[in-house]
Amino acid sequence: MSENTEIATQVKRRRTFAIISHPDAGKTTLTEKLLLFSGAIQIAGSVKARKAARHATSDWMEIEKQRGISVASSVMQMEYRDCVINLLDTPGHQDFSEDTYRVLTAVDAALMVIDAANGVEPQTRRLLQVCRARGTPILTFVNKMDREVQDPMSVMDEIERELGMAVVPFTWPVGMGKLFHGVYDRREERMRVFSPGEDKAGGDDEILSGLDNAEATKRFGAEFTQAQDELELLEGASPEFNREEFLAGRQTPMFFGSAINNFGVQEVLDALVDLAPAPADRPAMQRIVHPDEKKFSGVVFKIQANMDPAHRDRIAFLRVASGEFTRGMKLKVVRSGKEIRPNTVVSFMSQRRELLDTAFAGDIIGIPNHGVLQLGDTLTEGEALQFTGLPFFAPEMFRAVEVADPLRSKQLRAGLTQLGEEGAIQVFRPIAGSLLLLGAVGQLQFEVVAHRLEHEYGVKARILQSNFNLARWVTCDDANELKKFMDANAHRVALDAVDAPTLLVDHSATLRAVEQQWPKIKFHALREHA
Ligand code: G4P
Repeated sequence: MSENTEIATQVKRRRTFAIISHPDAGKTTLTEKLLLFSGAIQIAGSVKARKAARHATSDWMEIEKQRGISVASSVMQMEYRDCVINLLDTPGHQDFSEDTYRVLTAVDAALMVIDAANGVEPQTRRLLQVCRARGTPILTFVNKMDREVQDPMSVMDEIERELGMAVVPFTWPVGMGKLFHGVYDRREERMRVFSPGEDKAGGDDEILSGLDNAEATKRFGAEFTQAQDELELLEGASPEFNREEFLAGRQTPMFFGSAINNFGVQEVLDALVDLAPAPADRPAMQRIVHPDEKKFSGVVFKIQANMDPAHRDRIAFLRVASGEFTRGMKLKVVRSGKEIRPNTVVSFMSQRRELLDTAFAGDIIGIPNHGVLQLGDTLTEGEALQFTGLPFFAPEMFRAVEVADPLRSKQLRAGLTQLGEEGAIQVFRPIAGSLLLLGAVGQLQFEVVAHRLEHEYGVKARILQSNFNLARWVTCDDANELKKFMDANAHRVALDAVDAPTLLVDHSATLRAVEQQWPKIKFHALREHA
């Protein structure tokens, strides 16, 4: 087998997806159950444990404990059937949406978890907008059917209406809450009978065949009759599953279950393997990159500093876009031209050791480094390539920051530079004036930064109000015009982490006035790393 064929075979086996939800819908629980069903039994328990451990002991993100939210994203790899599945967790809290958005650039599909009692919640809506904008295919898991929840028809209607996608139920619930009896698989034409319990693995559920099933009618009475009626209705009313529509993010297959009871999880895992796409072509500025090309390329979509405060490590999460990664290979950071030779690569929980030494398109690798790698960086074997599409959003809140002890201003700058590179906050240097400005999309980001500055960099920072409320990155085809603009607006232009000029204003009326006054200047609410 030639190398390329081997790479192509490996690429076809990959499924890389993010799991997204509003907090408390059951993302952590479902993640753990997916690992359990994939056979990674030794891992099951650890996801929840990790969440618990973070709450109990981790100092560096004590804030998590205080707020009960998950700040960090993580990556898990598992094997199921003949596939290698990479699962990326996303922070649920809305103030960390920027980080989440970037994680979504690294996946080929998303699994959306919905709490059947609460339906579509705000954070789900925001995340879905990003997936839809990127055309990411989405599978839907409606969780907590063992509780008194909304009836499934209205959950389905709500998803269709709120998220603007056609919903295709693959399974349908029989009853709910105390009278939850199971799910009916519309393709397999059989019912998986519900039995509660957290400890059972897959394969031991009772199966009843067909919708005209006398035993089911007798045992499950009114709930089964109702499910029969609803399923009949669906035959006429809901669209046929169409893979093209799904891949374009216009149709979502829907599954019902109860993650905590390990129920309905198998169907989702099978659907991920059967329906979700393998890694596809990725656009770079120079050309389209095919996943089964011989040469390695990848893009950094997340930086996490100080995961372990004792070691001051800083890990760049890289999604492999093409070729084969092998430990110790020489890689070029295209932005800086620097060469690195990652020997200690952080691999993510995995069942088999041999997976750790090589990685193919769709896989995520973590490269420890001390600042050589930045968000959006492209790594190659030498070719000058820059992947596009890593979004930075114009902040909607600003604060000035100063250090309580002037002797520590160097540490403040160092800390903010790192946190900025990590994407925890955006840091702006006004071209006139000395106070640094912090920009965020959510208030909580400021608190996290103040906390981390103190605990990780020993800097007590004062976070001060600022008059700015809006930012736009500015560009212009005419360099002279841009310079003229910056000179005329020196009091409200700042440079961001990569020295991109940014206009800061108090409100939208001011922005409109500036836009009218400078018609040649382009104002951007979103910057893609380039
Ligand atoms: P998240 O990651 O999306 O924030 O949600 P997580 O899995 O932590 O689940 C949130 C809560 O919902 C947890 O309860 C969890 O046990 C519960 N849950 C998850 N799946 C189901 C389900 O299928 N049925 C029912 N009834 N509950 C479910 P908790 O009390 O907040 O936490 P814990 O004490 O169980 O850890």
